[in-house]
Amino acid sequence: MKEFDLTGKVALVTGAARGLGTAASWALARAGATVVLTDIHEDAVRERNAEFIAAGMDTSCAQLDVSNETLVAQGVDEILQRHGRIDILVNNAGIILRKPMVETSATEFRNVLNVNLVSMFSMSAAVAPSMIRHRHGRIINLTSIMGHIARAGQSTYVASKHGVVGLTKAIAAEFGPHGITCNAIAPGYFYTEMNQQVLNESAFHDSVVIRTPLRRWADADELGGTVVFLASSASAYMTAQTLVLDAGMTATVLDPGQAAAMQGGSGLDSRFQANPAFPVAGPDGTAAFEPIKSPHGELASQVSAV
Ligand SMILES: NC(=O)c1ccc[n+]([C@@H]2O[C@H](COP(=O)([O-])OP(=O)(O)OC[C@H]3O[C@@H](n4cnc5c(N)ncnc54)[C@H](O)[C@@H]3O)[C@@H](O)[C@H]2O)c1
Repeated sequence: MKEFDLTGKVALVTGAARGLGTAASWALARAGATVVLTDIHEDAVRERNAEFIAAGMDTSCAQLDVSNETLVAQGVDEILQRHGRIDILVNNAGIILRKPMVETSATEFRNVLNVNLVSMFSMSAAVAPSMIRHRHGRIINLTSIMGHIARAGQSTYVASKHGVVGLTKAIAAEFGPHGITCNAIAPGYFYTEMNQQVLNESAFHDSVVIRTPLRRWADADELGGTVVFLASSASAYMTAQTLVLDAGMTATVLDPGQAAAMQGGSGLDSRFQANPAFPVAGPDGTAAFEPIKSPHGELASQVSAV
């Protein structure tokens, strides 16, 4: 579709060696963009880029530590010399620190802010002059549902992601007159290595499933469509927004069936178990969607009425 075509556009993705950064890069490359995959881990990003080249994509890669302002300026400069322009910037690189506040030092707090938030300021400032010259640009920042709500034990991450929502509006205001849009994506729970620790806790995995109207976590590739939308002319009149990609988790409250299932512990209905084969509608909508029984055996019809 023409509105989503990125042929001739140059995209730079940070943190592209794995997870959502890789998924964003695939989506942009498939939409026709020339993509520069960057990451702090040089070997990993090279390996990833080789997979793109093998698949016939127009990509290259570079090591880039987004938390270092000097390296950011140098790295962006080199990419601009190589490609002449950067049309699309995906500020994706990020880290998480799961630690109680009283055990977290101010240095750790600053480090998370630096990698997750200050980096997006530095990257956007470094890339903007080229976008301004071309009177066109798309900046896409990865925030999180933790940019809207909070969770205990993640104060540094929550603060940084709330900051990304504000920075997104500020960038949109500053560069809008030059034809540059800036929007954010707030993912819910995706299967990536960032979530490895919580994925090992089946109770937590299940609680997300129960809490989410679509009754599942997301695959990393499910980020791609939103990235292409925000990178393309399909979103030409949209700026300063945060699109929440969480299958409705933060827009809904628990109904009685879900609440009961939450309290059910290991006795959860099979619909809620951490089994990838559970019969919940998948992204392609083919799997069956069956009524849900509460752990007490009553049909929780309101739960199945999605
Ligand atoms: N996975 C989720 O469920 C989820 C949910 C909400 C938001 N997010 C956000 O999406 C983004 C990507 O998350 P993910 O799950 O793919 O994470 P991930 O940990 O799997 O991958 C992050 C990538 O960023 C790179 N990186 C880390 N520090 C860097 C630095 N200083 N400079 C350059 N690269 C660096 C890592 O090497 C890695 O390749 C993050 O900003 C994260 O906060 C993820």
